[in-house]
Order: sequence, then C-alpha cells, then structure tokens
Amino acid sequence: MCGIVGYIGNKEALPVLVSGLRRLEYRGYDSAGIAVVSGGRVHVRKAPGKIDALIQSIKQDPAPQSFLGIAHTRWATHGAPNKINSHPHLSCDKKISVVHNGIIENYMKLKNALIKEGHKFVSETDTEVLVHLIEKYYRGDLKAAVIAALRLVEGSFAIGVVSSDEPDKIVAARQDSPLIVAQGKDSYFIASDVPAILEHCRRVIYLKDRQVAVLSQGGVGIYDLNNRKVALKFDKVTMDAQCAQKDGFAHFMLKEIHEQPRVLKRLIAAGLKEITAFEFPKKISNVVVVACGTAYHAGLVGKYIIELLARLPVWVDLSSEFRYRDPIITKDTLVIAVSQSGETADTLAAAREAKKRGAKVISICNVVGSSLTRESNKVFYTLAGPEIGVASTKAYTAQLAVFYMLGLRLAFSRKMISAKAYAGYLKTLGRIPSMQEEILRSKEAIAAVAKRHHNFGSFLFLGRNINFPSALEGALKLKEISYIPAEGYAAGEMKHGPIALIDEYRAVVCIAVDSEIYSKMVSNIQEIKARSGRLIAIASDGNTSIKAYVPEVIRVPKCDEFFSPLLVALPLQMLAYYIAVQRGCNVDQPRNLAKSVTVE
Ligand code: AGP
Repeated sequence: MCGIVGYIGNKEALPVLVSGLRRLEYRGYDSAGIAVVSGGRVHVRKAPGKIDALIQSIKQDPAPQSFLGIAHTRWATHGAPNKINSHPHLSCDKKISVVHNGIIENYMKLKNALIKEGHKFVSETDTEVLVHLIEKYYRGDLKAAVIAALRLVEGSFAIGVVSSDEPDKIVAARQDSPLIVAQGKDSYFIASDVPAILEHCRRVIYLKDRQVAVLSQGGVGIYDLNNRKVALKFDKVTMDAQCAQKDGFAHFMLKEIHEQPRVLKRLIAAGLKEITAFEFPKKISNVVVVACGTAYHAGLVGKYIIELLARLPVWVDLSSEFRYRDPIITKDTLVIAVSQSGETADTLAAAREAKKRGAKVISICNVVGSSLTRESNKVFYTLAGPEIGVASTKAYTAQLAVFYMLGLRLAFSRKMISAKAYAGYLKTLGRIPSMQEEILRSKEAIAAVAKRHHNFGSFLFLGRNINFPSALEGALKLKEISYIPAEGYAAGEMKHGPIALIDEYRAVVCIAVDSEIYSKMVSNIQEIKARSGRLIAIASDGNTSIKAYVPEVIRVPKCDEFFSPLLVALPLQMLAYYIAVQRGCNVDQPRNLAKSVTVE
C-alpha cells in the first residue's frame, strides 16, 4: 500500500506535497518522490528511504517553483525499494509523470508489448507500464490518454498524472485503491487518504472505482471510463488528523484486523499467479519451516497443510533453535523462512545456515527488498501492506494464505490432488474473505465477551489438529498486548498437566469449530466445566449443541476445518485487542516489544 498526493493551486506546490506525504508515511516508507511542472518541463526528485531522505535530496538539488505537482511514498510490491523503482515514473519523452498505489496484475504483458513498440523501461515496477501506456495514447488530451490506458489495465490502481504539455492539469483515477479529491481555498488536491489534506480543507469527493478526475485552477471534473461526466458529490470530513491515519479506527491493530479480507482478496488474485508459475525443485525429500513468534505459528499451520495435501514430511523449527542445533539439512530439503519484516535476526541466520548446508530457501515475507528476501532463492510476498501494530494480524493470515496456495500447488505438481480437487480447494479459499467480513461484523459481540473477561489473571487457549497452532497464536496475541499470562495448548494434552490449573479464576478459550474430532473438544470442555473453569468457545455457525456446555460462544461461519485457521484467527485477534483496550494497554506499541527483532 502506498500514499499519493497531488496539488494544484496558487501556493508553492512543494511544501504542500511534502507535508501531505508526511501524513501518509504510515502507508509506506520504502521511498518517496515528487514531480512538479514548471517552465515547460516535468521536474522529478525522488529518494529511497523515508521522507526525510527526499527532503535532503531536494535540498541538494532544488526543484523549480511550481503551483502543480504530484507526490508518492512507496510500499514496494514489485521491485526493490531503491531510487530507480521509486515513484514518480516518467514517460520516454519525460513529458508525462505518474504516481500509483496498487498492483497492475497484467503489467508484464503490457510491458512486453510496449517494449516491442520501442518504449524504454528503467525500473522493475509494474507502475512504469502506466506512464508508457499514457504516452502511447497521448494526442494532446491527457484525460483521454489516461482513459485509453486504464481500459487495458487489470488490477488495482489509484493514480495521479501530470504532463508538461498541459501544465495546468492533474488527472487522477482509481480502481480498488482509495483516492479522494479535495477542494481548498483556490486549490484542489488528490490524496490516498484524508490525513494528507486535513490541514488545508475538509471538503472531499471520495472517488469511486473506474472514475477519472481532472483538476485544474478552474475546478474539478469527474468522468467515468467512457468519458461521461459524473455529478460532483462533496462530503465534509469531520475526523481529526491522527484518527484519520487509522481510517477512523482507534488503533492501527484494529485497522489492520479489518484489512484482512481485502488483503486476502488481493493476495489470492496476485499471489496465486506467482505461485502457479513457480517451478518447485524437482526432488524434495522434506520441508523445513523456520520462523519466530506469529510467523512460527503460521509455519505450524503450514505443516498441517503441506503434509495433508502434498504428503511431504514437514518440520517447523523456531529460528533461534534451528540455527544452533546442527540441523539435518540436505540439498533435497526445501526450507521455507517466514517473516513479516524480513529482518528478524534469528530467521535471517536460520535461512543462511540452511543455504550453507545446501538447501533451497523460499521466503514468505511482507517487506519487499528486506534482508531475508535477498537471502532467498525465491520470495512469495504477502502483499499485506505496512503492518504498523506490533502485534501481527493481517500478516499472519496472509502468511497462512500463502501456505494454502503453496501447499495446493505443491500437491498438484506432485500429482497428490487432481485438477478438479485443486480447483475446488481454490474456490473454497476464494470464499474466505467474505467469511472474514462476516466475523468482523460481530465485533461488538466479541468486545462484550472481552469486557466480561478482561480481569482474569490468566488464560488457557486450547485447539486440536490444524487449530492447535491457532491456540498458540491466540495466546501470543493476548499476552503480548494485554500482559496477561496466557498459554496455548493442544487440547489433547489437558490431562497431561494443564488440567491442574483449572479453577474459577482461569479463563479457557476453546477452539471448537466443526470437525471430525469436535466431540473430543466437547470432552475437554466438560472436564473444564466440571472444575469451574471460565469457558469461552469459538464455534461454527449452526452448532446448536455448544451452548449447552459453554455460556460464551463466539461464532465463525461454517467452513471446512482445513481452512478454519483463516477464520478463527480473527476472533482470537479481536478478543486480545478488546481485552487489552479494556485494561488500558498501549495496543499498538506494547511494552518491551518491537515490530522487528533485528537482534538475537
Ligand atoms: C507477533 O505478534 C509478534 N509481534 C512477534 O512474535 C513476531 O511475529 C515475531 O517477532 C516475528 O517477526 P517477523 O514475522 O517480522 O519475523
């Protein structure tokens, strides 16, 4: 996810653009850039790193005064976060410049065709295709050229476009990525999000999908992709800037919990193509997953997925253990390193150790160009956008989704599942985002359960089979943001120790979704009930029997147990979140923790 800003008005554009970028830095901070139009030319300044690096670069090489410009702060999805890949991008004749937030899914096909027509590309990004397409169709009407280009594009975009041939105009458009148009005093803006313009104005138009906006000193026009004019509908923004950065959510963590359906949709659309095109090593004797924390839990779910589908032995290791225990790795071992940040010291070291011993390393990572991605033979990005909350949420379910797609692909390529079964699994996976949305709609009920349990001194999370890792993850979410001691356990282990802990002061969260071994979980529940444990169950819609045993039931849509970790993760995240809020904890920045553990 990136941030874009555009300005046209009677003030110097540069300071307005830079301050707008600062307000959008939470959307991505790999690189930043601006393009202003002045003296019949487009002037671009850009730099890798945060916005301060861009300001330094502009100080060293000032851009001329201008009253019109576009700007971008990048979250890399295609192409490393370096200067050449940063936005804005320029056409061959340097007369048109584009900033973009989103993913152009058919960019390779478009790029190859444009190269054949003589266009010269300089970056690895998908975005650069847009500026060359617009150049190809430009015949003196920037809006018409943008429309012609966008009609060929598949994927998501929010774009800002300027041209030195039309120095009084910004053209903008969106599809599946947010973009607003705002009207200030003698000025107009485009922005990915409200915070970028709040210091200037509060009169905005929320652009709709497949709409094009044309901003000039004289005003703004909105068109559809058939070039038909659309009536302007201004709204008034009421929220304050700080709140707006979180899209109106109280914390980044809650915002990121709510982003999961959208992340999953985007990931399935873009990730599946990448995974389908991937050639697995011919001979794989076993799979080893190395990761830490939440990523480790994702790896544990990955074990169930790959072993069930591809019938390959998978062992999942904490990176900090793997790296020091002289692991048995051969050239036929496929190692999968999982890391949201791509900078976790132990996982980096584990990946290096595995490569040293001859293994191929695949990484599942969220940050493009991070250290781990540079150590891997192949990277599958989770495309979850920046995860600001220290407690990992959307990155976790995105990691799971990559494991499902990888496991399915591996099983199909090893002829362990038929094409029909493969298609059936993918169809079920495609329905998960809407099921997640249904769970998010029950957040008040989950908040009420949290309120009734926020004073418990300790929690036990129980799961079975593919949801044993879900129990571990639920316990980690709670302990790291509420500081309540919490343990995750395989429910079958109850009688081997944990049952000694059960009394009326212990809250026990049981993951009791429909499954072939649901009755085993019911037995655990009855044992806990008999010892006055305070029970909370996560159960499937339509399960009417559970209420007889458990007073507090959080529902998830009925789905194949195999995919249920993608659903149960959400109530576990929200339970932890609302309990931590009730206890007045710093949810986004819990004590003693960091978003990325770059030291041992
Ligand atoms: C998860 O909520 C924690 N913040 C932590 O366990 C995290 O998952 C772990 O540090 C691994 O980080 P990584 O995914 O960036 O490697």
